Amino acid sequence: MAFKLSEEFKAKADKICARYPRRDAALIPLLLELQKETGYVAEEGMDALAAFLGLPYSRVKAVVTFYTMFNREPSGKYHLQVCRNISCHMAGAEGLLARLSSKLGIAEGETTKDGLFTLSAVECLGACGSAPVMQVNEKYFENLTGEKLDALLDDLRHNRVMPR
Ligand code: FES
Repeated sequence: MAFKLSEEFKAKADKICARYPRRDAALIPLLLELQKETGYVAEEGMDALAAFLGLPYSRVKAVVTFYTMFNREPSGKYHLQVCRNISCHMAGAEGLLARLSSKLGIAEGETTKDGLFTLSAVECLGACGSAPVMQVNEKYFENLTGEKLDALLDDLRHNRVMPR
């Protein structure tokens, strides 16, 4: 069955479009909304959004593939995105990635069997002054240390911080 944008999504999308002089300018906010609904942006979702905005599919796909904030595959409840660019690298990002990989038993790009965590290494998150930084879904965790990371994982496992 073909993917259809929900009526609720379309109503929200119309409101977002109204904030911009042209509907296509709302592409990124709408992709973020779409991702919020299902946790990722599927090919069918890109296609439906392109039709909704009157854009070619290739333009939507180009935006989704350019920005690392868009997931193209289903991800875990918590998407752990560790920045590995220069400031974070120098502040220990590789050690944090290795720690996460070891504690969760997954490699970069994988999701834990319980569906809770997906691990990714990403490019600069724009918070270099508080490196090392990890983004979990839409929230940033900065000045991380191994101990802070362990405590954060524990909090996430027990729903003590930020749902999707
Ligand atoms: S280098 Fe990590 S946030 Fe910029």
